[in-house]
Amino acid sequence: MPLFSWTSALATGVQLIDDDHHVLIDRLNVVLEALSQGRANAMISTALNDLVTYTQEHFAREESEMQRINYSGIDAHKAEHAQLIKQVNDLKAQLDAGSKIDRMALYNFLTRWLKNHILHVDMKLAQALRESLTH
Ligand SMILES: [Fe+2]
Ligand SMILES: [Fe+2]
Repeated sequence: MPLFSWTSALATGVQLIDDDHHVLIDRLNVVLEALSQGRANAMISTALNDLVTYTQEHFAREESEMQRINYSGIDAHKAEHAQLIKQVNDLKAQLDAGSKIDRMALYNFLTRWLKNHILHVDMKLAQALRESLTH
């Protein structure tokens, strides 16, 4: 299972967001590495915890930017953030309970979510933030 690599297609052009996304990808890769190396549930859970902690900080920064510019897509964007945190916390609870999880499914879920969210949701926010600078 390859790690998640940054490509220029993921750059939103808003420094605050792109800087955060680099850190996010580093944390995600710790989880992906633990998954692909067949590490114990506890280790995956700890890595997921680090990922969730930073993800929540990042989401809060994006959301305060949305509020600052009165972003029209704020509700839908915040809903996607909340949904992800809930899904990852549910998975973490399963791991912590000692359940056997489908590691490939978790790997695919996390990598697809981040890629799709950046490309389709964060990109729109970045565009609005850039436009707000010219007004
Ligand atoms: Fe976002
Ligand atoms: Fe983001």
